[in-house]
Amino acid sequence: MNLYKDAANLLKEAKNILVFTGAGISAESGIPTFRGKDGLWNKYNPQELATLEAFLKNPKLVWEWYDFRRKLIKEAKPNLAHLTLAKWEKILPITIITQNVDELHQRAGSKNVIELHGNIWTLKCLSCSYQEKNYEVPLKKIPPICPKCHDLLRPGVVWFGEALPEDALKKAFALAQNADVCLVIGTSGVVFPAAQIPYIVKETGGKVIEINLEPTPISEIADISFFEKASEALRKIDKYL
Ligand code: APR
Ligand code: ZN
Repeated sequence: MNLYKDAANLLKEAKNILVFTGAGISAESGIPTFRGKDGLWNKYNPQELATLEAFLKNPKLVWEWYDFRRKLIKEAKPNLAHLTLAKWEKILPITIITQNVDELHQRAGSKNVIELHGNIWTLKCLSCSYQEKNYEVPLKKIPPICPKCHDLLRPGVVWFGEALPEDALKKAFALAQNADVCLVIGTSGVVFPAAQIPYIVKETGGKVIEINLEPTPISEIADISFFEKASEALRKIDKYL
C-alpha cells in the first residue's frame, strides 16, 4: 500500500485536475500563514487590517502592514512545492485555484492560476476603475493615490466581508463540477466560499487528496491525506508520475 503511488495514479488517470492551495504552500518560502502557531492572525487582528472599514479608518496603518507583507513576499522565492506544480502543469491537465495573493505560483512558472482572493501586487482605486500592477518595495508613497481621480488606492486583495472576484469564483466552481481530482494543499479549509471547492469536487464524484501538516475539516472528505510538508509530499508523489 503506497499512498504516494495511489495519488500519482489518480492524477495520471484524471482528465481535469484542480489544485486548491492556501497559505501553507508558501510557508516553506518563509511567508507566514494566517492561522498556524506563528500565524499572522495570532500577531495582528484581522479586523484591524483586513477589512474595508479598517482601511477607511486608517489607510496609512493598513498600507504599512501590506507594505511589510509585500517586502516579505518580494524577498521570498517559490519553493519546491510551487515548482513541482509548475512542472506538472506541462504533463497533467492542471488548473491551480489559489487563495494566496503572493503570486508565487506564477513566479514558479504556473500559467493556469485562478486567484480567488486577489493579488497583493495589484493596487486599485476606491472610486474609479483605475488599477495597476505595482511591484515597488517599499511603496514610494503611503497611502498611494489614484493618478486619475486622486482618491486612495487600496490593495487589490479580498478583505473579510467582501465578495470574491465574480468571474474567478464562477470559473472555479464550474471547474470543480467537472474535476476528477482536487489536490488540496496547505489550507485550513475554514474560509468560505473558497473552501467550498473540494466539497463540490467530492459531491460531483471527484476524488480529494489533501496535503497539510495536520488534519482539517477537509480531511473528513479526503480520499487520501498526507500529513507532512507540501514540498515533501509532492516530491514523493512526483516519483510515480
Ligand atoms: N505544508 C503543508 N501545509 C502547511 C505547511 C506546509 N509546509 N505549513 C502550514 N501548513 C498548513 C497549516 O496546517 C494550515 O492548515 O497550511 C494551512 C494554512 O492555513 P491558514 O493560515 O488558515 O491559511 P489559508 O487556509 O490559506 O487561509 C484562507 O483566510 O485569512 C484569510 O484571505 C486569507 O486566503 C486566506 C484565507
Ligand atoms: Zn481613481
